[in-house]
Amino acid sequence: MSISKAILALAFASASSFAFAEGAPTGSADAGKATFQKAGCWTCHNYGGTGSAGTGPRIGPTVLEWEGFVHQVREPSNQMVPFPATILSDQQLADIYAYLKTQKREDPKQIQLLSR
Ligand code: HEC
Repeated sequence: MSISKAILALAFASASSFAFAEGAPTGSADAGKATFQKAGCWTCHNYGGTGSAGTGPRIGPTVLEWEGFVHQVREPSNQMVPFPATILSDQQLADIYAYLKTQKREDPKQIQLLSR
């Protein structure tokens, strides 16, 4: 490889890793909601990703950065079933990620009985 080609390759490599570090590709929360149901994420993580004791932790809203999210879904850390790219594309994952980001934690201050 000539030096100029090597420099070009390096430039590309760093450009793409910058793009990666910038975060999630743009996703549609509406499409993500549908895919969340279709892919069966809810069977362990409950509707809206609120979590179910014994089957899956809360993921709505997710606390993970995009890279960590993708890593967990593709190569789960423990008991979760893996979802390879042949089953869920990166775009579908980006949609689910956008959807989970729209979810809100319950606010105990909204419970009137407790605010007296
Ligand atoms: C069979 C049950 C099951 C299904 C189906 C499932 N998960 Fe999970 N998930 C888990 C469990 C259990 C964990 C805890 C870590 C582990 O076991 O890998 C987890 C962890 C996670 C985490 C990391 C949570 C955190 O904050 O550390 C994310 C994100 C996640 N799942 C997303 C998804 C998505 C998106 C789907 C659907 C595409 C999905 N999961 C489907 C069981 C499941």
